[in-house]
Amino acid sequence: MKILAIESSCDETAAAVVEDGRKVLSSAINSQIAEHRKYGGVVPEIASRRHTENICAVVQQAMEEAAVTRDDIDAIAVTAAPGLIGALLVGVNFAKGLALAWNKPLIPVHHIRGHIAANYLAHPELKPPFFCLVVSGGHTHMVEIKDYTDLHIVGRTRDDAAGEAFDKAARCLGFSYPGGVQMDKAGKDGNPHAYKLPAPKVEGHPYDFSFSGLKTAVINTVHNAQQKGLEINAADMAASFGYTVAEMLTTRFCAAAEEFGHTTLAMAGGVAANSTLRSRLQAECDKKGYSFYLPPLSLCGDNAAMIGSQAYYEYQAGHLADQSLNGRAAMEIDTEF
Ligand code: KG4
Ligand code: ZN
Repeated sequence: MKILAIESSCDETAAAVVEDGRKVLSSAINSQIAEHRKYGGVVPEIASRRHTENICAVVQQAMEEAAVTRDDIDAIAVTAAPGLIGALLVGVNFAKGLALAWNKPLIPVHHIRGHIAANYLAHPELKPPFFCLVVSGGHTHMVEIKDYTDLHIVGRTRDDAAGEAFDKAARCLGFSYPGGVQMDKAGKDGNPHAYKLPAPKVEGHPYDFSFSGLKTAVINTVHNAQQKGLEINAADMAASFGYTVAEMLTTRFCAAAEEFGHTTLAMAGGVAANSTLRSRLQAECDKKGYSFYLPPLSLCGDNAAMIGSQAYYEYQAGHLADQSLNGRAAMEIDTEF
């Protein structure tokens, strides 16, 4: 089964053709990052406008690179939640129009389920059940993947997402948007123990996270230094921040894995590209004898191939939409459209 998938939930306009949920025939991405960088973050209206301008060309590119025509496509999939509503609606409406014109089934996909499915594209042997740490710009969840479309959240952030914390700390240190990847790079030359940062716990909820205190600690340290006319070593701060985040995520995720009896672990989302987190979690899984799955860097950030993968399993489960499909800015990962 060949699915044409569309993703436009944030600042990437993407389309892909994916076969049987596992084989990427094409994956086209038009990133708007350079434009949003001028403003220090994603400007929702600009994102919607760029999606509108680019979506036809991106879908055409995906079809051409996969060397398929409309007759080869069995279904149209689209990210319908969660994300920036104006951005989502561009993809949703385009997919609805295409499904109507081509007379194909329409499959709505939850963006974060898509991030998790990036692992299916990279690891043909990976099948549920497994336990996944989802770390993106908008989400930080520990999720039990009981089956492809049966997910259960074990823990979550109570405030900022991990990526959001990276980006805000980065901004304060003078790195350009999106700061996560710059922090990762800068931290490689820094001392992870130079600054002692807090790793706040959520009272009574051992598998939840709080990142806002950590972010505020960076901001306060930088401001205090500025007031005293002292220099902050950005590489040391980036390394200390990356180390603290990786420690917090790794220890809680592995403790939850142990409690819930999971020995197959995975990670997904934009922050899964972080080198410190990747190696720290890998080392812990090696120590405990767990199998650990990671998407390649190319599949960690937003793309449509991951949406095409998850769409295949949503289709198998009968999760289709009709022409009344709408976008949703917020939606829990364990609910259906
Ligand atoms: O999953 P994603 O592409 O978009 C959302 O669904 O939110 O995640 C984007 C987030 C941004 O906050 C970005 O700074 C962060 O992922 N990110 C990183 C790295 N690469 C991307 N954070 C830390 N280290 C990285 N190498
Ligand atoms: Zn994403």
